[in-house]
Amino acid sequence: MSDIAVIGLGAMGTALAEAFLNKGHAVTVWNRSPAKSDVLAAKGAVVAASVEEAVSSSPLIVACLLVYDTVRQVLDPAREALPRRTLVNLTNGTPEQARAMSDWVAEYGADYIDGGIMAVPPMIGGQHALILYSGSRQAFDAHAGRLEALGASRYLGEDAGLAPLYDIALLSGMYGLFAGVLHALALTGAAGIPAREFMPLLGSWLQAMQGGLPKWAEQIDSGDHSSNVVSNLGMQADAYFNLIDASRSADISTELVLPMQNLMKRGVTAGRANADLSSLVGLLQSSKQGS
Ligand SMILES: NC(=O)c1ccc[n+]([C@@H]2O[C@H](COP(=O)([O-])OP(=O)(O)OC[C@H]3O[C@@H](n4cnc5c(N)ncnc54)[C@H](OP(=O)(O)O)[C@@H]3O)[C@@H](O)[C@H]2O)c1
Repeated sequence: MSDIAVIGLGAMGTALAEAFLNKGHAVTVWNRSPAKSDVLAAKGAVVAASVEEAVSSSPLIVACLLVYDTVRQVLDPAREALPRRTLVNLTNGTPEQARAMSDWVAEYGADYIDGGIMAVPPMIGGQHALILYSGSRQAFDAHAGRLEALGASRYLGEDAGLAPLYDIALLSGMYGLFAGVLHALALTGAAGIPAREFMPLLGSWLQAMQGGLPKWAEQIDSGDHSSNVVSNLGMQADAYFNLIDASRSADISTELVLPMQNLMKRGVTAGRANADLSSLVGLLQSSKQGS
């Protein structure tokens, strides 16, 4: 018997299995392409000949495959071995997929925990790795000590959909930031400014702007977007027109920045010109426009 079975040895699954091994846990591994097990076998992992063997080896099964359909497809032949075990699914997915997976696992008498990995493989097991979890509280408490090997854990609640919801919301923030950065670099790069020269300024500007986010949280939770506004939507929408015009003049694609202008215009039309930008969250929630 092992402490943990890791199913899926892509870049992330391999990092997870290594982190468990580094903490001295007994680990069984399985992957569709067997060659990826070799490096882990050399570090002490037991290589299962089948998924059934891997699932039967451990009370805790950690799956990290590309998509949820693959998880179901891979685990299906081993479903009779699932009872009384805990499946921790660290595959990226949607809240709906997580809830459906939780129901499927429950049919076979196993506990389910969904997880969102907020790290890249080299970070796993280090102090900057964060793993979000949701699902069975009892199972999480029982296995929290082992899961700590992967990085800091944050348990969000019994609804299995919470971890993927937080995960995709955090990714949304990240990709929004990346989109702005890509556009900024296209603009400055087209003017002959080396990215190396511009990047430090961009980095410190973005950091400074983050200072306003706690106020947005207050405004969104209270519903008051109009008190003590220092940069109202109307003013920002005008400045944003300049961003679009300058991009077009420089022959820079506006595909990343145009959706924000459309939303700002919608906010102004809806009478929110004197409100803060945080009021746009309500517009996104109340309309399918732009989806
Ligand atoms: N890498 C990251 O930076 C990162 C960060 C956070 C979250 N994640 C998430 O972690 C999960 C795994 O990512 P990864 O980076 O490890 O991806 P990856 O390196 O591409 O590995 C994919 C894994 O899925 C397996 N797989 C794919 N299709 C399969 C199928 N039809 N049947 C059986 N096995 C199949 C692959 O098996 P084979 O080896 O046989 O192809 C491999 O084990 C994803 O959901 C990803 O979103 C990744």
